[in-house]
Amino acid sequence: MELQAHSPWNHPSMAAGDQPGRIREAFRRHFGEPSLVVRSPGRVNLIGEHTDYNLGFALPGAVDRAIWFAVSPRRDRFCRFCSVDLNDSLIVNLDKLSRSETRWANYLLGIYAQLAAEGKNAVPGVDCTFGGDIPIASGMSSSAALECGLAFALNTLFGLRMDPVALAGLCQRAENRFVGVDCGIMDPFAALLGRKDHLIRLDCRTHDFEHVPFTRPDIRIVLCDSQVQRSLWNSEYNVRHAECEVGVTVLAEAYPEVWSLRDATPDMVEAVRDHLDRMDHLLYRRCRYVVGENRRVLEACEALQRDDLKTVGALMNATHAGLRDDYEVSCPELDILAEAAMDVPGVLGSRMMGGGFGGCTINLVEETALDRFRETMAAVFRDRLGKSPVMHICCIDDGTTEET
Ligand code: GLA
Repeated sequence: MELQAHSPWNHPSMAAGDQPGRIREAFRRHFGEPSLVVRSPGRVNLIGEHTDYNLGFALPGAVDRAIWFAVSPRRDRFCRFCSVDLNDSLIVNLDKLSRSETRWANYLLGIYAQLAAEGKNAVPGVDCTFGGDIPIASGMSSSAALECGLAFALNTLFGLRMDPVALAGLCQRAENRFVGVDCGIMDPFAALLGRKDHLIRLDCRTHDFEHVPFTRPDIRIVLCDSQVQRSLWNSEYNVRHAECEVGVTVLAEAYPEVWSLRDATPDMVEAVRDHLDRMDHLLYRRCRYVVGENRRVLEACEALQRDDLKTVGALMNATHAGLRDDYEVSCPELDILAEAAMDVPGVLGSRMMGGGFGGCTINLVEETALDRFRETMAAVFRDRLGKSPVMHICCIDDGTTEET
């Protein structure tokens, strides 16, 4: 279910067409002139995977791939949504909201449901067309882009006066409670608070954040799409979250100061290893990964400050090993892509990105090595995965904004 065809080397500047124009035009055909056009981006995450719901640290950024929304307010409590790319539409009565069989709709309806749950139960309906160029189920968080785009539009159209951090929380709770995925705050945070040429050093417990410059012209972020499509709702994502919670209860018995894996140190995890093993032999490895990953994020932030991208890359490689061996959220295709990339001269780091079980690897590649990287990886796609290569060069871009 790709939103659009990809060339083997899908640089955004080569991406087809005028996306906001296309979505605006679809709106005109269905509903007239839109009041608002919103751009809501996908995200990458340099490092800090599966740390957000463990209240740790992450280093994401919004990218130059997005979903655009054309929206107009209505006076009643009906919504008419139209997915331009999927050629699908839905009319909803907001006073009778329930989960839809139409999967994409739940990310949108969840926003209304969560607003109502938080006391904003008189928000009127909208007419809305949307579509864009974030590949679906490839780990770039098209779901958060959908949620954030609508939340941003409703906030603007109906004067809800929520700041971007509050909107990110709303989107996370919508996904937790309506869609049923126990995700953390990283994706909506990156979508809403992204800044061009900056990553976000995010503390997922306090929601403190800092925009960290990421402007090296000689280094590019390249995604390799395994084309193994697995969404969080049908993966073991929630199982991992639950395993971490059990780990925390074991740690907290010995260390009452541990409220989340964020609070635990590697020594603490070693000290309770037997106890963890008695509960379930997987728990030790799950906890070891998360505690190690939080440290890696902090180390990567320090390395970025020193402009030491070699160290950042080495940390990314270590993250991949942890996700593959300890957290067990990788898959053979992602392992092949990451391991092959690590061997290409000029690749600083490579790892699976996002929730896992499919989706993309993220690679830090020297500009001068881009051609070699493309050729080597294209051969890996063809010879080892039996697939046409799909790669994206991503630039770090602004978060959700109104298009003028
Ligand atoms: C998905 C979730 C995020 C985060 C990542 C893994 O993208 O939506 O909250 O947990 O997986 O880091």
